[in-house]
This record gives sequence, C-alpha cells and structure tokens, in this order.
Amino acid sequence: MTKVKISSKAAMELEDKYGAHNYHPLPVVLSRGEGVFMWDAEGKKYYDFLSAYSAINQGHCHPKIIGALKEQAETLTLTSRAFYNDVLGQFEKFASEFFGFDKVLAMNSGAEAVETAIKLTRKWAYEKKGIPENQAKIIVCEGNFHGRTTTIVSFSNDEEARKNYGPYTPGFIRIPYNDTDALEKALKEENVAGFLVEPIQGEAGVFVPDEGYLKKASELCKEAGVLFVADEVQTGIARTGKLLAVHHENVQPDVLILGKALSGGAYPVSAVLANDDIMLVIKPGQHGSTFGGNPIAARVAMAALEVVEEEKLAERAQKLGELFRSEIQKLVDESDLVNKVRGKGLLNAILINDSEDSSTAWDICVALKENGLLAKPTHGNIIRFAPPLVMTEEQLLDCVKIIKETILNFKN
Ligand SMILES: Cc1ncc(COP(=O)(O)O)c(C=O)c1O
Repeated sequence: MTKVKISSKAAMELEDKYGAHNYHPLPVVLSRGEGVFMWDAEGKKYYDFLSAYSAINQGHCHPKIIGALKEQAETLTLTSRAFYNDVLGQFEKFASEFFGFDKVLAMNSGAEAVETAIKLTRKWAYEKKGIPENQAKIIVCEGNFHGRTTTIVSFSNDEEARKNYGPYTPGFIRIPYNDTDALEKALKEENVAGFLVEPIQGEAGVFVPDEGYLKKASELCKEAGVLFVADEVQTGIARTGKLLAVHHENVQPDVLILGKALSGGAYPVSAVLANDDIMLVIKPGQHGSTFGGNPIAARVAMAALEVVEEEKLAERAQKLGELFRSEIQKLVDESDLVNKVRGKGLLNAILINDSEDSSTAWDICVALKENGLLAKPTHGNIIRFAPPLVMTEEQLLDCVKIIKETILNFKN
C-alpha cells in the first residue's frame, strides 16, 4: 500500500474519529524525521526536543540503523523462538558484553521488559532465596512510572494511570523516592525480593535523586540479599551523559531493564539483563514473546548500540546537558514564568511557575511548536526537554534561543 498524502487537519480528524482517545497529542502532525529534525504534513520543520520520550537518542532515521533494518527486513523478519535465528545470539553476546552482564532476555516494549524483570525477581526469590511461595514483595517508589500493564499500574500512585483498572496485583511496597532511610526500613520487612527503581524519575517530571542515593540504595540491597533492579528504559543508552544513569555512581544493578533507544526508535526492542545466577531461574516455556528477539530487532539493536559508541553520544549528552542547563538557568533568573531547570545529561525539565492543574505548560509547548520546537509537558506544570543526542552545539544554542524567546514573549 502506498503512502497517502493528507493534510494535518485531515490526519488529526482521522485519529480523533477512528482512534481510541488514550492520548492527548500536541496539535502537530509529523510526516518525516531526520537527525534532530521533524517535518509536519505541510513541510514545516521543527527541532525534536522530546525524542519520542528518549527513544530517538541516535536521531531520526539514522542511516546505520535504518540500513540494518532494511537489510534484515528483506532477509528474515520473524521465526518465533520455536527455532533459532542466526542474529539473536550475536545480539545477545553484543548486548551482554556492552552492558557487562552474563545474559540478556529480549522483549519488545518497555513495559514488557519491566514485567519480565518482576517475574525474574520473584522467581529468583522463591528458587534461590527461599521465600515462601506467593509471599515475595518488591519495593517500588512513589511517583514511579514503569509502563501501563495491569501489574505495573497496580503499584503506581498516579490515579490517572490506575483508576478503575483494579483489582490490583499485590506484592509491592511503595516508599518515597530518594529516601534511603525508607528503603532501609522497608528492606527489614519479611520476604523482600527486590527494589525496582528509576535512576531518574522521567515521567514524574525528571526528578534527579540526591548524589549518592543509587550507590547507597544498591549497597543496602546487597546487604539485605535483595535484587537491585534498575529501570533504565528512559535514562539508559547515553541519555543522561553516561551509557547508563547508574554509572554516574558506579553502580552495576543486579537486573537492568532497557527499551526505547535500544533500537534508536526504529523498532520496538526491549531487554532485561542479568547474570547467570539470576537469569537462569527462567527455564524453557516459563516466559517469552512471539516477537521478542526477532532478527530485525536483534540487527537494529546492535546497530543502535554501535551508533552510541561510534558517535560518543554519552559524552555529547554530558557536555550539551551542562551547556543547556547553564543557558536555561539564565532564563530562570530572568523570567518569572520559570522556577527551575533540572536534569542530567540531555534529560532535563523546567518547572513552570503556575498551579499544577493550569494549562500554562501546555500553552507554552503550543507556542514552542509555533516557533519550531517540539516538547511536551510531563505532569502538570513541568516541561521535559530531551532532544536527540546527535544534536550539535550550534543546534542546541539555536534551540535555547527559541525556548528563551518563546517564554520571554509568552502571555498567559
Ligand atoms: C522508566 C520507564 N519504564 C518503562 C516505560 C514503559 O515503556 P513502554 O512505553 O515502551 O512500554 C517507560 C515509558 O515511558 C519508562 O519511562
């Protein structure tokens, strides 16, 4: 089927009439992407300052990633895991060595990888730690976002995400984020199997915990014989200025969850990584997915990780992030509309000086769109800024200019 060219207005009307209303997109219809840019249906060019929630770290349609995708799509797309394929093992070796684990379990979406990590943690707890059946507990944090499945929303405290999706899955203890005393206390409860944590809470509004939090948390878990499970679906793959956000504190999690930029946004690929003593508790037939680890996913993910290394994306995110925050800090000092800028690497957010239920952050994003930059509020009055990591310094400064001018000229 050939692509039909339609206007932005027609595209929005179609989505509204025929699509479920589970999203509220900014009114812009995108039709092409290349590097740090996207174009709408009428050909207007924008800077992408969201990167599909950090999936497009390597930039839109990266030629190396798309090359791998095309080549593999013309060769072999899916075998299911009923049979071996000649790419998956290569990816598993590559990714295991890249992140420093014995093994990888490939899935598709971030939420599936989180589910996989939960199952792995529970199974390990029953079979290796001797927790009585059905008693295992996993500690999670307030303000968490780990995806949308029924189990995952069961331990969310975001009413919007969980209301009327019950009955909820039991077995989770929720503690405040960035609070090692609370973790220490929770770890004393009976039958704790793991601690599932985002190294920076992205969806909640780019909450960066205090320095030392992750290190201390991982040490407490080790002392308690509990798995430290890092959800790096949003923070991983160079976004925060290191390959993984936990690397800022020299932490190696027991279980690592990746998604999004693992494919550079070209294909849904997610993965869970762990060492043999943990990973091998899952035996044939006990977990899986028809598409998980398919040859396209495997090729695309290898190419996407190679790009991260070849183009030194972590170093770039680190350097550009510092520049971005120092420039936006000037805006914070100058404008009454922005209270704060925070973040790490190129995962940043600004806090808008208005009530949480005001539409100001949304209206600013609409004004940014008019001025050629696409970003989106996270929660209420917080706007997340996460451009592709392939951005140049000149482009970043151009974006800073757009953001400053838009906000300084913004009228409520
Ligand atoms: C930290 C974290 N975990 C998991 C997910 C879920 O990923 P997916 O939307 O691919 O299911 C997200 C998505 O934003 C995320 O930010």
